Amino acid sequence: MYRMYDIITKKKQGLPLTEGEIRFFIEGYTAGSIPHEQASALCMAICLRGMTMEETAVLTDAMANSGDTVDLSAFGEYSVDKHSTGGVGDKTTLIVAPLVASLGGKVAKMSGRGLGHTGGTVDKLESIPGYRTSLSPEEFFEISRRVGVCVVGQSGVLAPADKKLYALRDVTATVDCIPLIASSIMSKKLAGGARSIVLDVKCGSGAFMKTPAEAKALAQAMVEVGEKCGRRVRALITNMDVPLGTHIGNALEVKEAVKILRGEQEDDLYRVCIALASNMLSLVHGWSVEEAEAGCIAAIRDGRAYAKLLEWIAAQGGDTSVLEDLSRLPVSPVCYALCAPETGYIAHMATDGIGTAACLLGAGRATKEDTIDPAAGIVLQAKTGDYVEKGQCIAYLHTSSEALLPAAERAFLESITMDSKPPVENPLIFTR
Ligand code: URA
Repeated sequence: MYRMYDIITKKKQGLPLTEGEIRFFIEGYTAGSIPHEQASALCMAICLRGMTMEETAVLTDAMANSGDTVDLSAFGEYSVDKHSTGGVGDKTTLIVAPLVASLGGKVAKMSGRGLGHTGGTVDKLESIPGYRTSLSPEEFFEISRRVGVCVVGQSGVLAPADKKLYALRDVTATVDCIPLIASSIMSKKLAGGARSIVLDVKCGSGAFMKTPAEAKALAQAMVEVGEKCGRRVRALITNMDVPLGTHIGNALEVKEAVKILRGEQEDDLYRVCIALASNMLSLVHGWSVEEAEAGCIAAIRDGRAYAKLLEWIAAQGGDTSVLEDLSRLPVSPVCYALCAPETGYIAHMATDGIGTAACLLGAGRATKEDTIDPAAGIVLQAKTGDYVEKGQCIAYLHTSSEALLPAAERAFLESITMDSKPPVENPLIFTR
């Protein structure tokens, strides 16, 4: 019989916990027999003393098995998932999921909503009239089998230990700890059932991890934990020191995703999507990344990826006429041209601040209960490294009411640093 007091003491002394101790903690905390104060003390001890990779893998496995798990074994080697650690303008799932499905992958995926300055895939999909983010397990499986892609909201019974622990960590200053972040993310991915997983670990001012070194440590922990738990895992570290693409906000991001899938835009967003999709397909089919990249580019150019997007959205009840005619997506009554305050180069964009500006326009939530405005957001006309003249439009702010503009404009301008010299360019993809 274990005692939480002893487990906390052991970790406080920096000693590794046994498998039995870790499973006792997760089972007891999920069931409610271990109180929040003891769970909170253990989380703090883990933050201060760390965990070995073996402990992190056991913690992840225990959390993944704390509730329902999705069985995708019928898809064999073809089931594949992706996860982004969150950012601003990150609509990669909308592009990568149908692209990978058009080349034989099975993307049966659960996605989250936006919180704080970051957006969420489920909110973006709900800006398409009729799209259903909640399906029965049978429908979820059937659409994944028939179409090759299905994206729904996170079910409450998937990894309930993580749900409870994450809420606790949020109020006890124990979020920024690599073993706890890695186990939190990977427990949900493992419970989601995919055989292969590609992680997009964001790095920079719009991300959790601010430096490439921090992002690399998190990526390595997640890959190692996933592999110890029997999955094929790869991670890319990508730049989130500038918003991804040009559109931020739910319907606006759907619009940009459609343009990429139609082959009308080949920018930073396109390149990150090709990198993610080709790594997913390389795991699924055993192709080299270069072969997979060529396949992705061809599927976009010949229309297969876009056709798969329409098939997927229709299968989940969405009105595909708004994708075929993008002017029919929700549109804001107010569109304000925000101008450069001075002449010079945009030296830096504090990307979390840009995300906050989009939220202030109505595109995001401050609390889980807030409703979002699907049409609100920002369309960037200039990004880091661009030279602009004073008074030139650098972004369009879309919103439902002029009263929301001043605070959003202030947040946007406070996030921009101007300089007379061009900034040193960051790589888009730091490492794999
Ligand atoms: N995202 C998660 O799901 N969990 C964390 O701990 C941090 C980010």
